[in-house]
Amino acid sequence: MRGMKRQTALLIAIAASLPAAAALSGPSVAALTGGWEFRREGGEWIKVSVPHDWAISGPFDREIDKQVVKIVENQEKKATEKTGRTGSLPWIGRGEYRRRIRLDAGAEWAALEFDGAMSEPEIFLDGERIGGWKYGYTPFAVEIPAEKVKAAKERDLELVVKLENRPLSSRWYPGAGLYRPVRLCQSRSFGVKPWGQSIHTPDLNTVVVSTELRNPGGLDLDVEYAVKDPSGVVVARGKSPLRVADPKPWSPETPVLYTLETTVRDAKGGADVVETAKFGIRTVEYGPDFFKLNGVKRKFRGVCLHHDLGPLGAAFNESAFRRQVRLLKDMGCDSIRTSHNIPSPDQLAICDEEGMMVMAESFDTWEKAKVQNGYNLFFGEWWKRDLEQLVRVSCSHPSVVMWSIGNEVPDQRTPRGAELTKEMQDFIHTLDPDKRRLCTQGASDMPTAIKSGVIAAMEIPAVTYRLPFYGQIHGVDVSKPMLGAETASTVSSRGVYKFPDEPRKMAKYDDGQCSGYDTECCVWSNLPDDDWAMQDDNAWTIGEFVWTGFDYLGEPTPYDTYWPSRSSYFGIFDLAGIPKDRMWLYRARWNESASTLHVVPHWTWPGREGEKTPVYVYTSYPSAELFVNGKSQGRKTFDRSSRLDRYRLRWRDVVYEPGELKVVAYDAGGKVAVTEVVRTAGAPHHFVLEEEPHDSKPGDITPSLVFVGVKVVDKDGNLCPDAALPLKFKVDGSATYRCACNGDATSLEVFTEPKMTTFKGRLVVVVETKGGSGPWSLQVSSPALPGAVGMTRTR
Ligand code: GAL
Repeated sequence: MRGMKRQTALLIAIAASLPAAAALSGPSVAALTGGWEFRREGGEWIKVSVPHDWAISGPFDREIDKQVVKIVENQEKKATEKTGRTGSLPWIGRGEYRRRIRLDAGAEWAALEFDGAMSEPEIFLDGERIGGWKYGYTPFAVEIPAEKVKAAKERDLELVVKLENRPLSSRWYPGAGLYRPVRLCQSRSFGVKPWGQSIHTPDLNTVVVSTELRNPGGLDLDVEYAVKDPSGVVVARGKSPLRVADPKPWSPETPVLYTLETTVRDAKGGADVVETAKFGIRTVEYGPDFFKLNGVKRKFRGVCLHHDLGPLGAAFNESAFRRQVRLLKDMGCDSIRTSHNIPSPDQLAICDEEGMMVMAESFDTWEKAKVQNGYNLFFGEWWKRDLEQLVRVSCSHPSVVMWSIGNEVPDQRTPRGAELTKEMQDFIHTLDPDKRRLCTQGASDMPTAIKSGVIAAMEIPAVTYRLPFYGQIHGVDVSKPMLGAETASTVSSRGVYKFPDEPRKMAKYDDGQCSGYDTECCVWSNLPDDDWAMQDDNAWTIGEFVWTGFDYLGEPTPYDTYWPSRSSYFGIFDLAGIPKDRMWLYRARWNESASTLHVVPHWTWPGREGEKTPVYVYTSYPSAELFVNGKSQGRKTFDRSSRLDRYRLRWRDVVYEPGELKVVAYDAGGKVAVTEVVRTAGAPHHFVLEEEPHDSKPGDITPSLVFVGVKVVDKDGNLCPDAALPLKFKVDGSATYRCACNGDATSLEVFTEPKMTTFKGRLVVVVETKGGSGPWSLQVSSPALPGAVGMTRTR
């Protein structure tokens, strides 16, 4: 079993002398995926599997989250009617899940682990409340009382989870329900407490382990560790600290994971409890002008991610998150900020495995509200418990290199904010054994947050946007580095281009889309080029987390007063995970192991003949030459002195004529390196289906998904860049249709219906395979294109 699941997996080794009745059969940590029923308040019970998001099937409805508000964070001066702010999906209200559980005959202790439940979960077993939580993003465990453990060995007990999502409790789509895994753990009376172990490597040869034991009987327990290298060879054994000679350090480029085996022995009873956990050997360090991983300086090439997975909603899925990580890695991205909430253990396990650093965030609000019923309702009573869980669950993951205690909290404006900053940071360090892993938060209100003392109190000063204040913030304490906690917030729609291509702020158009030239942003934000100039010209910046890697449900800025618009425009990838042009702009800068050449826009502009149609090229090569129907438009190199020509090659006076747009990139020696051609497309003719690469093995706890890209093309295979064709999907064999997404922020088509209209010629269909076995097929057809049937088949 891999590192998916809670990071530790229990195995019980029972001494042969024990009576048979005491034996626990099967795994003692079981994900409770099937057997659930769910109902909305007053509704009918339906069968579901967990993780489950009760709201993702919609329908979208503007009334759901209509609000007349002034968004202070967006520098608004007066209240206006907003729609789509939290996705316009039915997540608000109460819901309840039920399922029967049974324990093994030998169980002496049992607990339920919830990686998060949206939200305010109340847990009942056999009619009695046994626990609960408030914040929907916190992983927590509920121990099953002893008398219930006894009863559950003899009969099934009914587990009920009640949830409530209050209106005005989120600034984005939070999802709803048991959207993360739930596990049933059982064991002998003694063992390791849930998330009770920390593993850390103060240097590359030392592994320090600390284990909290559960030992109600006061047994004489002994703990011993074994470290296994990736090939399973034991490289250290004994008590903590353990020495590892010739270590293979973990990094985004080399995500090497070791295994720690913990044996807890009851000296008298002769029984062992063995836990295994994955970990990485790595060090982190922050200094005046650096972040170092394993002693090597690097700048964060990061993105912020909300937790939803586009058309899958908030329901966690291993294949879908792994896909996101892989797409980001191909762009050269090396880090994720889990904005603005506590990540799930599975997200972190995948980041460990794939090689992705993480800024593990916690809250969007502290004491002062951003939305009426946000975390501010619980902060006072709960922040310590929530931060404790964040650290307990996350601290052994090598991917986690930084904690974030908050995002743009309004408290940053007051000295109380500075006090809380110190208190929260100190609290984290009392729990986290890795003393060099520091805390940050996204500050935004400048220069107020400097005056309030918040910036001075921060271990890693970080700001969202506000480039003009970077110098001043850094000046508060030059012994600390400076981070772009959020950068860009550039807005664009995939495949949409607006003319002229001048940079614009808060531009709005009748079609509810933003320009793919990537020259548009918000009043508070900027373009990628601005962030890079800041980072390249100032050694004390340690990089950035771009807002955002993928589009997400909710926050349709700049269209939050425009209906229908229900998802963001900020993503480098759209909601379907299809790259926008901006992906290649970042890739050209970030991906040092592959070359990039990409030309913007498409070249199918009926009606624009004779008009200036700017062409941009995003490339890792030093120069390129552009040709229209074979005629050179000139060769360009980057211009350090210009805002938009420093990182892009732009030909702004190209006159459109149908035919062929060709770009030739030259290497540093002036030789032709690579060429890209875009051709004017004819009428839609057929579909091209592309199955994305995926793991063939089934997911551990969530269904395996396959993502299939669908393109509408002309007879020669050119993408029809404006095609809006209604498609129907049919899945046969050993798979089922799960959802589809076209990346259009203004579409109200339901993701889970087997039909959808292509947006700018493309969409993605998600197929759920049954455990990776057996053949299946996906058929795509459209009444608008009779006779053209796209088909993908697996054996
Ligand atoms: C930031 C905020 C994010 C998101 C972003 C949009 O101020 O922290 O959550 O709202 O703006 O640009």
